[in-house]
Amino acid sequence: MNPTVRIFPTPYELAEKFAEEMVQMIKQAAGSNRTLKIALSGGSTPELLFSILGDHFSKSSPWEYVHFFWSDERCVPPVSPDSNFGMAFRSLFKKIKIPEGNIHRIYGEQEPAKEAIRYSDLINQYTVKREEVPVFDLILLGIGEDGHTASIFPGMNSLFDSEKICEVSVHPVSHQKRITLTGRTINNADRIKFLVTGKNKASILKRILDREKSAQNLPASMIVPVDGSIEWLLDSEAGSLL
Ligand code: 6PG
Repeated sequence: MNPTVRIFPTPYELAEKFAEEMVQMIKQAAGSNRTLKIALSGGSTPELLFSILGDHFSKSSPWEYVHFFWSDERCVPPVSPDSNFGMAFRSLFKKIKIPEGNIHRIYGEQEPAKEAIRYSDLINQYTVKREEVPVFDLILLGIGEDGHTASIFPGMNSLFDSEKICEVSVHPVSHQKRITLTGRTINNADRIKFLVTGKNKASILKRILDREKSAQNLPASMIVPVDGSIEWLLDSEAGSLL
Protein backbone atom coordinates (compact mmCIF):
# COMPACT_ATOMS: atom_id res chain seq x y z
CA MET A 1 0.00 0.00 0.00
CA ASN A 2 1.38 3.41 -0.91
CA PRO A 3 1.78 5.47 2.25
CA THR A 4 -0.32 8.62 2.46
CA VAL A 5 1.76 11.79 2.76
CA ARG A 6 0.21 14.97 4.12
CA ILE A 7 2.23 18.19 4.17
CA PHE A 8 1.29 21.08 6.49
CA PRO A 9 2.67 24.64 6.33
CA THR A 10 4.08 24.57 9.87
CA PRO A 11 4.73 22.08 12.69
CA TYR A 12 2.02 23.76 14.73
CA GLU A 13 -0.60 23.31 12.00
CA LEU A 14 0.43 19.66 11.62
CA ALA A 15 0.17 19.00 15.34
CA GLU A 16 -3.09 20.96 15.73
CA LYS A 17 -4.81 19.07 12.90
CA PHE A 18 -3.60 15.69 14.12
CA ALA A 19 -4.63 16.51 17.69
CA GLU A 20 -8.18 17.11 16.39
CA GLU A 21 -8.08 13.78 14.52
CA MET A 22 -6.78 11.90 17.54
CA VAL A 23 -9.55 13.34 19.74
CA GLN A 24 -12.09 12.36 17.07
CA MET A 25 -10.73 8.80 17.15
CA ILE A 26 -11.02 8.72 20.95
CA LYS A 27 -14.60 10.04 20.88
CA GLN A 28 -15.57 7.41 18.30
CA ALA A 29 -14.08 4.67 20.50
CA ALA A 30 -15.93 6.06 23.52
CA GLY A 31 -19.14 6.06 21.48
CA SER A 32 -18.81 2.33 20.96
CA ASN A 33 -17.54 1.81 24.50
CA ARG A 34 -14.11 0.66 23.27
CA THR A 35 -10.73 1.68 24.64
CA LEU A 36 -7.92 2.65 22.27
CA LYS A 37 -4.40 1.30 22.76
CA ILE A 38 -2.07 4.04 21.58
CA ALA A 39 1.75 3.84 21.58
CA LEU A 40 3.46 7.22 21.87
CA SER A 41 6.85 8.18 20.57
CA GLY A 42 9.55 10.52 21.78
CA GLY A 43 10.75 13.40 19.67
CA SER A 44 10.07 17.08 19.10
CA THR A 45 6.97 16.77 16.92
CA PRO A 46 5.13 14.40 19.28
CA GLU A 47 6.02 16.81 22.10
CA LEU A 48 4.27 19.64 20.22
CA LEU A 49 1.27 17.36 19.61
CA PHE A 50 1.06 16.44 23.32
CA SER A 51 1.28 20.10 24.35
CA ILE A 52 -1.60 21.02 22.04
CA LEU A 53 -3.67 18.08 23.32
CA GLY A 54 -2.93 19.09 26.92
CA ASP A 55 -3.53 22.81 26.41
CA HIS A 56 -6.55 22.74 24.09
CA PHE A 57 -8.26 19.35 24.38
CA SER A 58 -7.84 18.45 28.03
CA LYS A 59 -11.56 18.81 28.76
CA SER A 60 -12.98 17.81 25.39
CA SER A 61 -11.65 14.28 25.10
CA PRO A 62 -12.86 11.23 27.05
CA TRP A 63 -9.34 10.24 28.05
CA GLU A 64 -10.59 7.29 30.09
CA TYR A 65 -11.10 5.50 26.77
CA VAL A 66 -7.40 5.51 26.00
CA HIS A 67 -4.59 3.29 27.26
CA PHE A 68 -1.23 4.91 26.56
CA PHE A 69 1.90 2.89 25.86
CA TRP A 70 5.25 3.82 24.32
CA SER A 71 6.88 2.73 21.08
CA ASP A 72 10.22 3.20 22.81
CA GLU A 73 11.82 4.59 25.94
CA ARG A 74 15.28 5.53 27.04
CA CYS A 75 16.63 3.46 29.93
CA VAL A 76 16.61 6.39 32.34
CA PRO A 77 14.41 7.29 35.35
CA PRO A 78 11.11 9.03 34.54
CA VAL A 79 12.42 12.30 36.03
CA SER A 80 15.32 12.36 33.56
CA PRO A 81 15.07 15.06 30.85
CA ASP A 82 15.72 12.17 28.44
CA SER A 83 12.60 10.26 29.47
CA ASN A 84 9.88 9.96 26.79
CA PHE A 85 7.37 9.33 29.56
CA GLY A 86 8.60 12.41 31.44
CA MET A 87 8.12 14.52 28.30
CA ALA A 88 4.57 13.20 27.79
CA PHE A 89 3.76 13.74 31.48
CA ARG A 90 4.87 17.38 31.43
CA SER A 91 3.21 18.19 28.09
CA LEU A 92 0.01 16.14 28.39
CA PHE A 93 -0.71 13.86 31.32
CA LYS A 94 -0.43 16.44 34.09
CA LYS A 95 -3.07 18.53 32.25
CA ILE A 96 -5.73 15.86 31.68
CA LYS A 97 -8.05 13.69 33.76
CA ILE A 98 -7.06 10.10 32.97
CA PRO A 99 -7.03 7.06 35.26
CA GLU A 100 -3.47 6.35 36.36
CA GLY A 101 -4.00 2.73 35.34
CA ASN A 102 -4.37 3.85 31.72
CA ILE A 103 -0.80 5.10 31.48
CA HIS A 104 1.65 2.26 30.94
CA ARG A 105 5.12 3.75 31.03
CA ILE A 106 8.21 1.68 30.35
CA TYR A 107 10.24 1.52 33.59
CA GLY A 108 13.42 3.04 32.23
CA GLU A 109 14.98 2.81 35.66
CA GLN A 110 14.77 -1.00 35.72
CA GLU A 111 17.24 -3.54 34.35
CA PRO A 112 16.61 -3.33 30.56
CA ALA A 113 16.36 -7.04 29.68
CA LYS A 114 13.93 -7.69 32.54
CA GLU A 115 11.90 -4.58 31.68
CA ALA A 116 11.59 -5.63 28.04
CA ILE A 117 10.00 -8.87 29.24
CA ARG A 118 7.74 -7.14 31.77
CA TYR A 119 6.57 -4.61 29.20
CA SER A 120 5.95 -7.31 26.58
CA ASP A 121 3.79 -9.20 29.08
CA LEU A 122 1.89 -6.00 29.90
CA ILE A 123 1.23 -5.31 26.22
CA ASN A 124 0.03 -8.88 25.84
CA GLN A 125 -2.48 -8.34 28.66
CA TYR A 126 -4.00 -5.22 27.11
CA THR A 127 -4.09 -5.88 23.38
CA VAL A 128 -5.98 -8.06 20.97
CA LYS A 129 -3.81 -10.21 18.71
CA ARG A 130 -3.64 -10.66 14.95
CA GLU A 131 -1.61 -13.72 13.93
CA GLU A 132 -0.54 -13.88 17.61
CA VAL A 133 1.00 -10.39 17.41
CA PRO A 134 -0.38 -7.53 19.55
CA VAL A 135 -2.46 -4.96 17.69
CA PHE A 136 -2.17 -1.31 18.67
CA ASP A 137 -4.97 0.96 17.45
CA LEU A 138 -2.44 3.72 16.78
CA ILE A 139 1.35 3.96 16.90
CA LEU A 140 3.07 7.36 16.64
CA LEU A 141 6.58 7.38 15.24
CA GLY A 142 9.31 9.87 14.45
CA ILE A 143 12.31 9.40 12.21
CA GLY A 144 15.96 10.21 12.75
CA GLU A 145 18.23 11.69 10.08
CA ASP A 146 19.86 8.25 9.95
CA GLY A 147 16.55 6.57 9.17
CA HIS A 148 15.93 5.14 12.63
CA THR A 149 12.45 4.95 14.04
CA ALA A 150 11.35 4.18 17.58
CA SER A 151 14.69 2.94 18.91
CA ILE A 152 15.48 0.67 15.98
CA PHE A 153 18.68 2.07 14.49
CA PRO A 154 20.30 1.28 11.13
CA GLY A 155 22.07 -2.07 11.17
CA MET A 156 19.94 -3.35 14.03
CA ASN A 157 17.54 -5.20 11.75
CA SER A 158 17.40 -8.12 14.19
CA LEU A 159 15.36 -5.78 16.40
CA PHE A 160 13.06 -5.39 13.45
CA ASP A 161 12.43 -9.04 12.69
CA SER A 162 12.50 -10.25 16.30
CA GLU A 163 9.64 -12.53 17.29
CA LYS A 164 9.43 -10.61 20.57
CA ILE A 165 7.10 -7.71 21.29
CA CYS A 166 9.87 -5.52 22.76
CA GLU A 167 13.63 -5.66 22.63
CA VAL A 168 16.54 -3.88 24.29
CA SER A 169 18.32 -1.50 21.91
CA VAL A 170 21.39 0.69 22.23
CA HIS A 171 21.81 4.15 20.72
CA PRO A 172 24.78 3.79 18.32
CA VAL A 173 26.39 7.09 19.35
CA SER A 174 25.50 7.69 23.00
CA HIS A 175 25.38 3.94 23.79
CA GLN A 176 22.31 4.75 25.88
CA LYS A 177 20.20 1.63 26.34
CA ARG A 178 16.63 1.76 25.09
CA ILE A 179 13.54 -0.43 25.15
CA THR A 180 11.77 -0.52 21.79
CA LEU A 181 8.78 -2.16 20.19
CA THR A 182 10.04 -4.49 17.48
CA GLY A 183 9.28 -3.86 13.82
CA ARG A 184 6.97 -6.87 13.83
CA THR A 185 4.86 -5.31 16.59
CA ILE A 186 4.85 -1.86 14.97
CA ASN A 187 3.85 -3.22 11.56
CA ASN A 188 0.90 -5.02 13.13
CA ALA A 189 -0.77 -1.78 14.23
CA ASP A 190 -4.08 -0.65 12.77
CA ARG A 191 -2.78 2.90 12.19
CA ILE A 192 0.86 3.98 11.95
CA LYS A 193 1.52 7.72 11.87
CA PHE A 194 4.94 9.24 11.27
CA LEU A 195 5.11 12.81 12.57
CA VAL A 196 8.12 14.53 11.00
CA THR A 197 9.11 18.20 10.92
CA GLY A 198 12.19 20.24 10.17
CA LYS A 199 14.53 20.84 7.24
CA ASN A 200 17.03 18.36 8.64
CA LYS A 201 14.62 15.50 7.84
CA ALA A 202 13.97 16.49 4.19
CA SER A 203 16.80 14.40 2.77
CA ILE A 204 16.08 11.15 4.63
CA LEU A 205 12.38 11.52 3.89
CA LYS A 206 13.02 11.88 0.16
CA ARG A 207 15.27 8.80 0.18
CA ILE A 208 12.68 6.73 2.01
CA LEU A 209 9.48 7.94 0.34
CA ASP A 210 11.09 7.77 -3.11
CA ARG A 211 12.10 4.20 -2.18
CA GLU A 212 15.73 4.84 -3.07
CA LYS A 213 17.71 1.57 -3.12
CA SER A 214 20.24 2.93 -0.61
CA ALA A 215 17.47 3.51 1.92
CA GLN A 216 15.52 0.29 1.55
CA ASN A 217 17.12 -1.43 4.56
CA LEU A 218 16.73 1.51 6.91
CA PRO A 219 14.36 0.82 9.82
CA ALA A 220 11.90 3.58 8.85
CA SER A 221 11.75 2.13 5.32
CA MET A 222 10.74 -1.22 6.72
CA ILE A 223 7.70 0.14 8.51
CA VAL A 224 5.04 -1.37 6.29
CA PRO A 225 1.71 -2.19 7.93
CA VAL A 226 0.64 -5.83 7.65
CA ASP A 227 -3.06 -5.05 7.67
CA GLY A 228 -3.40 -1.44 8.82
CA SER A 229 -2.71 1.99 7.37
CA ILE A 230 0.36 4.22 7.35
CA GLU A 231 0.49 7.98 7.02
CA TRP A 232 3.36 10.47 6.99
CA LEU A 233 2.46 13.87 8.44
CA LEU A 234 5.12 16.40 7.50
CA ASP A 235 5.62 20.12 7.74
CA SER A 236 6.65 22.01 4.59
CA GLU A 237 10.32 21.99 5.58
CA ALA A 238 10.51 18.23 6.09
CA GLY A 239 8.56 17.66 2.87
CA SER A 240 10.49 20.27 0.87
CA LEU A 241 12.29 17.74 -1.36
CA LEU A 242 9.28 15.57 -2.20
C1 6PG B 1 13.08 8.75 20.67
C2 6PG B 1 12.15 8.61 19.50
C3 6PG B 1 12.92 8.71 18.23
C4 6PG B 1 12.49 10.01 17.62
C5 6PG B 1 13.37 10.40 16.46
C6 6PG B 1 12.97 11.78 15.94
O1 6PG B 1 12.89 8.09 21.68
O2 6PG B 1 13.98 9.59 20.53
O3 6PG B 1 11.33 7.58 19.57
O4 6PG B 1 12.67 7.65 17.32
O5 6PG B 1 11.14 9.90 17.17
O6 6PG B 1 14.69 10.43 16.91
O7 6PG B 1 13.13 12.72 16.94
P1 6PG B 1 12.90 14.30 16.59
O8 6PG B 1 11.49 14.37 16.07
O9 6PG B 1 13.07 15.00 17.90
O10 6PG B 1 13.92 14.65 15.57
